[in-house]
Amino acid sequence: MIVLGIETSCDETAAAVVTDDGKILSNVILSQIESHQPYGGIVPEVAARAHMQTTDRVVAQAINEAGVGFSDLSAVAATGGPGLIGGVIVGVMTAKAIAMGQNIPFIAVNHLEGHALSARLGDSDVTFPYLLLLVSGGHCQLLAVKGVGNYQRLGTTIDDALGEAFDKTAKVLGLGYPGGPAIENWAKNGDAHRFSLPRPMKGRAGCDFSFSGLKAAVKRTVDALPPGQLPQKDICDMAASFQAAASECIVDRTKNAIDLFKANYPDAQHLVIAGGVAANSAIRADLEKLAGANQMKLVAPPPILCTDNGAMIAWAGVEKLKLSETAGLDFAPRPRWPLDPNAPRAVGAGVKA
Ligand code: KG4
Ligand code: ZN
Repeated sequence: MIVLGIETSCDETAAAVVTDDGKILSNVILSQIESHQPYGGIVPEVAARAHMQTTDRVVAQAINEAGVGFSDLSAVAATGGPGLIGGVIVGVMTAKAIAMGQNIPFIAVNHLEGHALSARLGDSDVTFPYLLLLVSGGHCQLLAVKGVGNYQRLGTTIDDALGEAFDKTAKVLGLGYPGGPAIENWAKNGDAHRFSLPRPMKGRAGCDFSFSGLKAAVKRTVDALPPGQLPQKDICDMAASFQAAASECIVDRTKNAIDLFKANYPDAQHLVIAGGVAANSAIRADLEKLAGANQMKLVAPPPILCTDNGAMIAWAGVEKLKLSETAGLDFAPRPRWPLDPNAPRAVGAGVKA
């Protein structure tokens, strides 16, 4: 099988060609960051227009770099949601046109499922069930992954996603967008004990997260520093203090999830981390220790497959094609599309589905 995957749900226009034995033949990612940087975050209208202008080109490049033709494709997959709807429509329409022109199946992929299954791309040892920590710009969830399309949510954020907290902390420190990689870099030279920040939810039962209090504490602490340009030392120390607090919360909540998960699946071995924040090496290292202490193995995709990309969509397409889970050309893009439709609404302000 050779599957083309198209990802346009946020601020990357991406396309990739992947085979059913997990080979990535091409993986083209065109970031729109420069167009959004003046606004300090993603502007949906700007994103939709940029996807319209570049998706054809990115798909053509992915096909060329893979050394295949459209007629070699077994199927074409695109992110069908959740995400910024303008971009999702562009990707879905492009995929449908290719599917129709080539008379091949169209597969609508849940963006979160793309992240969730990315650990299985190139690592055939990651069998179901596994425990998944999905941490991205819009989501922060712990899930039992029982199979393709079969997810049980164990915990979620009751307010901000972790990536959002990284991005807002970076903004307060004047580090620009996206904040995650910047915070990680500045934190390397910082003192994580310099500022005392809260660890929301730490020590409580359950697996839910909360990051808005941590984000607000960063802002309060920075506002209390002497006015004017922040000294580099302060930026490094705050980045390190924030990252340490965030990681401690993640480890605490994930430990509870491991206990819950192991009670149901005592033989399961894999703790998988996915989504943009999974690219963070400090968080990966802390989770590796946690997994080891609980007789589990941490599986983290390479950083390029953690942030949004077409290869994870193509791979989810492969997994769905094997199960004949294709979509009709009447598929309607879904701005909201929870992985576990049976999960209760989390109690808290600003609930994310
Ligand atoms: O998965 P992703 O590319 O897009 C969404 O689906 O949201 O995740 C983007 C998020 C952003 O919030 C970004 O700041 C964060 O992932 N991120 C990181 C790192 N790289 C990206 N956060 C912490 N450390 C990183 N190295
Ligand atoms: Zn994503």
